[in-house]
Amino acid sequence: MRFEKHIFICANQKAEGKACCGEARGLELITLFKEKLREKGLQGKIRAQKSGCLDACSKGPSLVIYPEGTYYGHVTPDDVDRIISEHIENNRIVKDLELTFDI
Ligand code: FES
Repeated sequence: MRFEKHIFICANQKAEGKACCGEARGLELITLFKEKLREKGLQGKIRAQKSGCLDACSKGPSLVIYPEGTYYGHVTPDDVDRIISEHIENNRIVKDLELTFDI
């Protein structure tokens, strides 16, 4: 596997009035994740990148982390440190941000 974990952060912008993660909010999170991963020396192992719509628009800003396939919603800049220290570094899901879907 190329990366130990791969973080896809939605930065999709829909037309005004439609629920979405939003380009500005998504890009802010992407920048923060990249900075923090670099600070921790994880940039070669963990990749954070922009994604299109993850079909969790009303829960945005949203992201998904693979290989677990864990979705997180309503993510704010204040949550980035916790997602990295809990999920990325210790494989513990951040339950209060996790999105679950009925299949
Ligand atoms: S706009 Fe982000 S999940 Fe759809």
